[in-house]
Amino acid sequence: MTGNEMSGASEGGMERHQYDVVVVGAGGAGLRAAIAAHEAGARTAVVCKSLLGKAHTVMAEGGIAAAMGNRWPEDNWEVHFRDTMRGGKMLNNWRMAQLHAQEAPERVQELEDWGALFDRTEDGLISQRDFGGHKYARLAHVGDRTGLEMIRTLQQRTVQLGIDVFMECTVTELLKDGERISGAFGYWRETGRFITFDAPTVILATGGIGKSFKVTSNSWEYTGDGHALALRAGAALINMEFVQFHPTGMVWPPSVKGLLVTESVRGDGGILRNSEGKRFMFDYIPEFFRSETADTEEEADRWYDDKKNNRRPPELLPRDEVARAINSEIKAGRGTPHGGIYLDIASRRTPEFIRKRLPSMYHQFKELADVDITQEPMEIGPTCHYVMGGVEVDADTQESAVTGLYAVGECSGGMHGSNRLGGNSLGDLLVFGKRAGEAASAYAAGLGAARPAIRDEDLKAAQASALAPFEVEGGENPYTIQQDLQQSMNDLVGIIRTGAELEESLREIEAFKERARTMVVEGHRQYNPGWHLSIDLRNMLLVSEAIAKAALAREESRGGHTRDDFPKTDNEVWGTKNLVVTLDAGGTGVDLHEKPLPVMPDELKKYFD
Ligand code: FUM
Repeated sequence: MTGNEMSGASEGGMERHQYDVVVVGAGGAGLRAAIAAHEAGARTAVVCKSLLGKAHTVMAEGGIAAAMGNRWPEDNWEVHFRDTMRGGKMLNNWRMAQLHAQEAPERVQELEDWGALFDRTEDGLISQRDFGGHKYARLAHVGDRTGLEMIRTLQQRTVQLGIDVFMECTVTELLKDGERISGAFGYWRETGRFITFDAPTVILATGGIGKSFKVTSNSWEYTGDGHALALRAGAALINMEFVQFHPTGMVWPPSVKGLLVTESVRGDGGILRNSEGKRFMFDYIPEFFRSETADTEEEADRWYDDKKNNRRPPELLPRDEVARAINSEIKAGRGTPHGGIYLDIASRRTPEFIRKRLPSMYHQFKELADVDITQEPMEIGPTCHYVMGGVEVDADTQESAVTGLYAVGECSGGMHGSNRLGGNSLGDLLVFGKRAGEAASAYAAGLGAARPAIRDEDLKAAQASALAPFEVEGGENPYTIQQDLQQSMNDLVGIIRTGAELEESLREIEAFKERARTMVVEGHRQYNPGWHLSIDLRNMLLVSEAIAKAALAREESRGGHTRDDFPKTDNEVWGTKNLVVTLDAGGTGVDLHEKPLPVMPDELKKYFD
């Protein structure tokens, strides 16, 4: 299905379409938002850069966190809410964390009603597995392919409902009428022809920013487009300093370095060892989680069967803690031959169990690394996986500061605070996707005849901006700049940061921006990946600057932001505020502001006594 089949007029050679709600991005958040908007009666379109079904959502392999209580009846939304806030080191938007914990079970159930085939418990309920930072086994899962099943289900429903999908179509500008959204402008990747959507609402669901880093689980699409589009439209980003390095990515062979190794391996009993054979995570239990973390192997192993009388294994600390520990072991010279750490499930579970619960991991290692994970340990290391920061939105509606502009999923901020718990992204996509779709359609319906209009001069400017790289002669190609940026972000804005390195990174980003001003693309507009990258690179540079600037300002360590020069978590100074990023006056860089955290009501504060 492509937009060419849809109703729409062609004006002066430019394709033009009218909708009430345009969703940019077709991962779990985008599809759930589109379904909700369509069901609420809005004329809805989904526009995605890639093919339908290809989204980073599939990289949330282990499951959807939802307190359904299928394995542990003691579980409920309050425990999930508490775990989420503690995992995010209390910087989460409490209202989002509350809504998420309350509504995720219903969203999972609904997914099953739409055809998702979850694994079952012995009693025939949806099976739930353990993951880091979650008190109870609460990840509803489909082997280790949960994200894939979720996308398959949502995609099928989207198609069944007849929602228009514009695939391989990139949005480059958001258009405004005064302070309100009036539409979006972009191009077809294949033909290079421009396309305009007249719409009073746009829901950004573009995912993350991982392609700004060299080692990442993200694929080529994750260039921070939604983050950058929102900034340029006048919205703000929050929490951009918090980047999640998933503790376990492949380290070998080099061609797949960074590819995700699901946390389910640890959730299902896998442990981490260094080159000396030591189960080192016991040396890295932070004070914050000491009371709930086992400090002997015996207790850790008993926990899988008896959660009431034992504490959780240290391998299931939140991701930030585990990634830092692995990083320290490797730096201390106790890494594997390929520069990772051993992740061992072979010595702890039967081959049948491993193949049944972790089929994708089994095949991934067998086919890509010639390693049989039922017989030998895997070599793994941290990989850039997720950004906690994103568009600042209203918790209930996901609307940004710009009227008619919504953001949902990874490109929105607040829900996960300084560190996301595994499994909470899939729940987030469903809960807030639905909310955003409903809110956007309600707003559009209320407009009546007072719909915003697109101005011709804005369209001309959007075209000129997209074509600018063709006008330059003698400059660099975008690939070299992208590679240098990825290396620089990896080296200077990675798991462990220092003020000096962050300053260096900002100087380098300025230099990349200068190089990007004169970058050239060869050829013409028909399928031209160099041109596409030249457009994406502007977004990557803007978002990278936002991350580095916020990371330099936050002089403490918390969640996915560790400062070697400020190793402590400083609740007094930094525990009460967010860093907010807006576009600067020149329009090519960012400014930083501080903003107090929303105040949690007393009836929720009691969970943290
Ligand atoms: O490890 C994983 O399966 C990833 C899950 C997530 O990011 O939520």
